[in-house]
Amino acid sequence: MKELRAIILAAGKGTRMKSVIPKVLHPVCGKPIIQYVLDISKALGSLKTYVVLGYKSDVVKNTLESQIVSVDQPKMLGTADAVKCVSKYFKSYRGDVLILCGDTPLLDKTTVKRVVQKHRKSKAACTFLTAIVHDPKGYGRVIRGEDGCAIAIREDKDAVGYESDIAEINVGVYCCQSKELFKALGEIKVNKKKREFYLTDLIEFFFEKGLKVETVETEDSTEGLGVNTREDLAVAEGVLRQRILKELMLQGVTITDPSTTYIDAGAKIGSDTVIHPFTLIESDVRIGSNCQIGPFARIRPGTRIHDKVEIGNFTEVSRSKIGSKTFMKHFSFLGDSLVGTNVNIGAGVVTANFNGQQKNITKIDDGAFIGSDSVLIAPVKIGKKAIVGAGSVVVKGKTIPDGSVAMGVPAKIIIKGKHK
Ligand code: UD1
Ligand code: CA
Repeated sequence: MKELRAIILAAGKGTRMKSVIPKVLHPVCGKPIIQYVLDISKALGSLKTYVVLGYKSDVVKNTLESQIVSVDQPKMLGTADAVKCVSKYFKSYRGDVLILCGDTPLLDKTTVKRVVQKHRKSKAACTFLTAIVHDPKGYGRVIRGEDGCAIAIREDKDAVGYESDIAEINVGVYCCQSKELFKALGEIKVNKKKREFYLTDLIEFFFEKGLKVETVETEDSTEGLGVNTREDLAVAEGVLRQRILKELMLQGVTITDPSTTYIDAGAKIGSDTVIHPFTLIESDVRIGSNCQIGPFARIRPGTRIHDKVEIGNFTEVSRSKIGSKTFMKHFSFLGDSLVGTNVNIGAGVVTANFNGQQKNITKIDDGAFIGSDSVLIAPVKIGKKAIVGAGSVVVKGKTIPDGSVAMGVPAKIIIKGKHK
């Protein structure tokens, strides 16, 4: 098997996003756009991955794993120039090169794998991915010869006559023989209209040289979406969200209303858990089996919820661990909390976890009962089976010992040790 390396093009500012944040760092379902593309190159076994950066390269670099090589493109001279920037690493390399655009978060790894496989089987100089779309505007169109072979990619701005009506577009995924690729890059001329070097001119160049070019078409045309505008970003979010929900349902999670449920990429949920409408579950969240979440719940990053937990309506849980069979059913906020098993968090309980400077921990041990409308000012500890009476304010630094009863404002311990 030939070696595979990946190049990811991500130098652009993303002018059309009208943002100071580099385009590829905008999140889709809680994950930066570029991370979706990096995950694909990893899944396909790319031995080395090069990311071409330009606009705010340091900011993007800081988000990358250390084994990824980042290369600066000094001037935004186009996608062909971007690939050229990594050429020094490829001088003696004779394997295949997979080129991906950093702005295509909807790509599926099995589709990209099909491109690599077809490329290897056909021994083409270049194999690229196409999609048939309803609105091809803005994309490069695939020009085919009489025999059906791809002979060129025509960029939107350069398309004339019938070319503009072509619905088959270039997705921006290319697998090339390294040697042929870098040889050809030196021959690509600047596009006079945009004053850029187009990577897509590679196809016409190969065709003219008599080198073989192959294509693979996506089964699902949404995969081809490149995020160029905020509108594209919203479309990508919508498509990915439905994919995430579908996958969770296949794994045995009930989602009563997928149209009002928002779950980020990477959230893990156990089987027979029910997610009720108007619920938002963010990235880096794990929820066990047989839980009830929502309606109107927001579960934020860093949260771990064990089995048989009920988190009801108008609730927020952030950076907290919640033990099994704990209930928190109405109007509550838990932040930076370590909650044990069989705990009852009454209606309207709030952890005051932020003192204006830092976040503090609230610890609530197994079997504790926190009465309605209580405020726990962190750092604070509620012992095992302890009871906090309704409407209490437990002030910072306080520990309510195991089995004790506390109440009032500020809460005082009225029964110490074993109640009942
Ligand atoms: C590009 C393709 C187009 C294809 C579309 C798919 C070219 C000329 N056109 O168009 O055929 O249909 O993607 O989404 O390649 N970039 C750099 N350096 C540069 C310019 C761009 O790294 O100098 C990066 C961008 O950051 C981006 C990617 O390359 O991640 C694609 O660039 P973009 O400007 O979005 O190209 P499109 O106009 O979408
Ligand atoms: Ca693009």
